[in-house]
Amino acid sequence: MSLSRTESLGHGHNGTVATQRRPFRWPALLTDNGKGIAYGGDYNPDQWPEEVWADDIRLMTRAGVNTVALAIFSWDRIQPAEDRWDFGWLDRVIDMLGSAGIAVDLATATAAAPLWLYAEHPEVLPVERNGDVVNPGSRQSWSPTSPVFRRYAVELCTRLASRYGSNPFVTAWHVNNEYGWNNRYDYSSDSQRAFQRWCERRYSTIGALNDAWGTSFWSQEISRFADVTLPRHMGGDNMVNPGQQLDFERFGSDALKEFYKAERDAVESVCPDKPLTTNFMISTDQCAMDYADWSDEVDFVSNDHYFTPGESHMDELLCSDSLVDSIALGKPWYLMENSTSAVQWKPVNSRKRSGELMRDALAHVAMGADAINFFQWRQSRFGAEAFHSSMLPHAGEDSKIFRDVCALGETLKVLSSAGLQGSELVPSRSAILFDADCEWATRSATLPSTRLSHWHDARTWYRAFLDSSRRADLIPLRADWTGYDTIVLPTMLLLSSADADRVRRFVHDGGHVIVGYATGIADERFHVALGGYPGMLRSLLGIRSEEFNVLGDVDGEPSRIYLSNGFSAALWANVVTSVDDRADVLATYHGPEAVRWDLEGVPAIVRNTYGRGATYYIGCDLGRDDISRFIDQAVDRDPCGRGANIVHTVRTGRDAVFDFYFNRCSEPVSLRIGNVELLAKGRVESGLGSDDYRIGENGYLITRSTR
Ligand code: GLA
Ligand code: GLA
Repeated sequence: MSLSRTESLGHGHNGTVATQRRPFRWPALLTDNGKGIAYGGDYNPDQWPEEVWADDIRLMTRAGVNTVALAIFSWDRIQPAEDRWDFGWLDRVIDMLGSAGIAVDLATATAAAPLWLYAEHPEVLPVERNGDVVNPGSRQSWSPTSPVFRRYAVELCTRLASRYGSNPFVTAWHVNNEYGWNNRYDYSSDSQRAFQRWCERRYSTIGALNDAWGTSFWSQEISRFADVTLPRHMGGDNMVNPGQQLDFERFGSDALKEFYKAERDAVESVCPDKPLTTNFMISTDQCAMDYADWSDEVDFVSNDHYFTPGESHMDELLCSDSLVDSIALGKPWYLMENSTSAVQWKPVNSRKRSGELMRDALAHVAMGADAINFFQWRQSRFGAEAFHSSMLPHAGEDSKIFRDVCALGETLKVLSSAGLQGSELVPSRSAILFDADCEWATRSATLPSTRLSHWHDARTWYRAFLDSSRRADLIPLRADWTGYDTIVLPTMLLLSSADADRVRRFVHDGGHVIVGYATGIADERFHVALGGYPGMLRSLLGIRSEEFNVLGDVDGEPSRIYLSNGFSAALWANVVTSVDDRADVLATYHGPEAVRWDLEGVPAIVRNTYGRGATYYIGCDLGRDDISRFIDQAVDRDPCGRGANIVHTVRTGRDAVFDFYFNRCSEPVSLRIGNVELLAKGRVESGLGSDDYRIGENGYLITRSTR
């Protein structure tokens, strides 16, 4: 199948035309030909006396580390006072690293600012929703729209680029760090002014903004852009205008992107020839930025991923990575951070068990990563992250974690020698669509249920595909998905008429689309489409629904209703009142609970044909098992599928094909592979014949064959 993955994904929020994607550029290693899988972690030598550095290099070499991300939080060591600069320590450590063959991904060091800057310029501090000014003392305590802060940050970028731009050991730039982790919402007056300008760019006229936000509601008509306010705390439980809130989310992503571009451009104007990135935070429990939009602005996509402990561990990783690979347009991407074991920022922090460090890292590789980095190299003795795992733990080199880290280094070397780097993940035939706007919209407190979640449902669909021995790709709504056989729109509350048209054309041309229960209810301005739900797709689906039957904790009422085919729903059921003659009702609500809710016989799942394609409308939330059964009935088999307990992905290079197999369950699984070269295996026993393997829990097998 042909996915056109060369185009840009971007169409900026402020109504500007799509930016061009920057050409793909990948950081070189200090190997003879610059090639190989990158391996290493965040390195914070400034937390340690210089005597420790030699030991770091010795152990990095032993572990096979060939790259580090350096100086991410080192601003005050580089610029101890406004008029004092100290590069000596950085010169020394870069030289030591490079001389040992370890490439440096050098940070712009702008993620945490020094105290002197806040003392001189308290106006750079962000403001919280209730008007409290954020205090200095941690990281990212700066306002993305502060021109004063930008000036200081850009100067630091320029100085670093001037000093290290031609340093042969610095092979990539790591601009800032995890934009928006702490300063994504800023209610300062700088932010308000920037928001006003953003609104003016997006809407041009104040009338268009009033229209979009529906300001005739509650007497909120705005007469000029200078009067636009931020959705600050409005007293009590007062609800914020959802249109305004959605634009504020978009603005937050754009404001940080503009800040990133200023830093990037400062580096690039001095040092144009080295690839740049900034580390994204794509995982299925958060949506800080609209990364599909950001991805045009980096030379290579990099991502930080922290595991979800428990039964969804592996699936969640694959699901997040699938989106990363899609926004990288199938090009290799960089895992900038993951953890060897526990983090320290959750209420309860589980460690990784035997095999998980290796399995997770190789699963990222299987999903398209050509670099595996951890946070962080040496575990801190003090500070907020002293109890965060690392490559070199408190226990020292004589430790299970360090031995695992060395073993991973060995395996990555094998994969490098086999020529894996540069190969690309083969796309699946089905795609689940994801959109940051929809995720932000489903968080609105103004909806029929606050339990609605686009990310949650996208992940459930992703897992259900795996359960049914298939793998779907998770891709941005704005991507080109015309090459897929089937697309799923899970809880895509908002759909512009242009996107609804794209869906219609896709089906018309022979595609299959599966539409979830709360999809296409409103447009991109959060305006509900009239005439029956889902207004944006009603005619395509051949159904019309008039009300939402929301389920939950209602005293004395059934909290689950059943369908005629045995499926059930527990959150939401659409009250479908008419179905086109040519459409087939595949299931209705049925049973005492349905009777109780007035839904007996109401269509729940409807198939329609349109042009050369078909649509499936699923009018209620189904659990993972039901979705998986539905997929079995509605989606063609996946030629890659190896059963629900084995995850199989394929990366193809110029001359070779790499197959990755992972055990997805807690029992051993059997796998028969043909006559191929075995590159790496973990927790695997050979079975009866030479091609039969039993892969244990957290186990994997990686093979190569020629094309
Ligand atoms: C209150 C208000 C109305 C409306 C309703 C909604 O009664 O007076 O304006 O908001 O709540 O239930
Ligand atoms: C983020 C940051 C790192 C570190 C890790 C800890 O990803 O970028 O500096 O704080 O979290 O998990």
